[in-house]
Amino acid sequence: MRFIVLYILMPLIMLFPAVTYGQTRTLNILYTGGVNGELEPCGCSPKTDFGGVARRSGYIAEHQKMLSPYILIDAGNFLDKDTPQGRLKAKAMLKAFGIMKYDVVAILKNEKEFPYNFLSALLKKYKISVISDMPRYRQAISTKRDAFDVNVSVNPMNYHKGKLNILLTDNPISEIKSLKGWDIIILSSGEILEEPLKANGTIIVSGYPKGERLGILTLQIDGSGEVLEFKHRWQSLGKDIKEDINVRKALKEYDVRVAGLLKDNSKPLAEISYLGASKCGECHQPFVESWKKTRHAAAFSSLERTGKSADPECIKCHTAGFGEKGGFYSTKTTPMLTNIQCEACHGPGRDHLLDFSKPMQPVAEYVCLKCHTKSTSPDFNYPVYLEKIKHK
Ligand code: HEC
Ligand code: HEC
Ligand code: HEC
Ligand code: HEC
Repeated sequence: MRFIVLYILMPLIMLFPAVTYGQTRTLNILYTGGVNGELEPCGCSPKTDFGGVARRSGYIAEHQKMLSPYILIDAGNFLDKDTPQGRLKAKAMLKAFGIMKYDVVAILKNEKEFPYNFLSALLKKYKISVISDMPRYRQAISTKRDAFDVNVSVNPMNYHKGKLNILLTDNPISEIKSLKGWDIIILSSGEILEEPLKANGTIIVSGYPKGERLGILTLQIDGSGEVLEFKHRWQSLGKDIKEDINVRKALKEYDVRVAGLLKDNSKPLAEISYLGASKCGECHQPFVESWKKTRHAAAFSSLERTGKSADPECIKCHTAGFGEKGGFYSTKTTPMLTNIQCEACHGPGRDHLLDFSKPMQPVAEYVCLKCHTKSTSPDFNYPVYLEKIKHK
């Protein structure tokens, strides 16, 4: 008998320690939410150069072992608006989600703007499991990870006893706090929770805006499936994170498609109201010389360096007058308006040329703030910056 216990039962017990009732185990919930179509940061300032799908994917791939077992979830509002560029973003975003193997993704407010056929084709193509309260979608998904039974849902009434219950929502925190029955609620409403909130036995977390950081919630769960303890941390996604090369490839494809949005032939050359610096130089040469020494005069090369010189979301601040009548459109149609020309600050010069006595737009701080925003230029300080670009 002793022989049986020692040589047969003991090894068996040691083989299946996890089954022992009462033992606690760990599960990581990796989450994003409210990414709003941000595929990658613009790189305008090192202080805001965080996030992006290539780094997120790179981080997860490199730390598989440390993070496992984990569930990867997006709590919704990962897309931008339904515009031609927004659709290209949707393709790239979902392709990246597919590469990262997201377990569950919620279709919420932003995604609902897109036509069903467009989205469902992409979701199918990249094999992404989604939940939504829209017709034709599932409201909940049950998934197993290790020995954990997990129920992820967008329906606040839809929790299951005996499972780990996770609700994905973009309702405001004030409404969510009173919900019961959920172990975890992940928000994508845009409200920031730097630290998790505890209410009614529920852990409430929110996705970091623009996906600048990856949320990691580490749960200690006992044998009966109850969450005993949790730890939370933000994984910062800075320049030091190694990018996933396959996701980078998808982003390069995106850049090429975006460049196709500005069709050189489709837009008739509008009324020429912007003249370009060389025209101004005919009468204000010293001003042109001083301007050439500023970074404004080389702002377009920053885009060329990163393959973004035909991305409307970038050129609106790195050229003169993009989006306005007679302003920059493309390097082919308006080559004289690349960079931040005189008229980006002084206003279009055509009327000035017709009548010098007519004052140009006065240059004050508000002109700078159109481009020097909190995210593109966090160090912006008007007197300090003005000193650097002043004509001398
Ligand atoms: C809202 C205006 C705005 C938009 C949109 C914008 N930029 Fe910028 N960008 C700036 C400003 C302002 C700076 C300078 C910031 C500073 O130094 O304070 C800058 C700086 C940069 C620089 C840094 C240059 C250097 O050498 O340090 C790069 C690169 C850049 N932008 C790329 C991009 C790309 C790529 C996009 C599109 C994805 C983009 N920008 C969109 C305003 C903008
Ligand atoms: C049309 C958009 C736009 C406007 C308007 C604009 N800037 Fe800029 N500014 C930029 C961009 C983009 C850069 C970065 C250029 C680069 O290196 O790619 C920049 C760079 C600068 C820099 C260099 C930053 C550094 O640390 O070296 C200064 C200084 C600056 N701007 C001051 C100003 C001031 C002052 C105004 C208003 C009077 C102003 N800018 C208006 C877009 C703009
Ligand atoms: C980043 C914004 C910005 C850009 C770009 C810029 N300027 Fe200016 N400009 C100013 C500001 C601010 C002033 C007033 C302060 C000063 O004198 O420097 C000014 C003043 C001037 C004045 C003198 C106005 C007066 O009352 O005497 C002239 C002329 C002028 N700029 C021409 C140009 C020309 C030509 C270019 C292009 C080569 C240019 N500026 C580019 C911001 C800009
Ligand atoms: C054919 C010559 C000529 C050209 C080209 C020209 N200007 Fe002028 N500009 C003048 C003259 C002359 C004055 C002085 C008018 C006065 O003092 O009443 C002036 C004044 C200015 C002033 C200061 C007065 C004000 O209204 O703020 C600015 C700024 C200015 N020009 C910017 C520009 C810019 C930017 C361009 C290019 C788009 C440009 N100019 C092109 C001749 C020219």
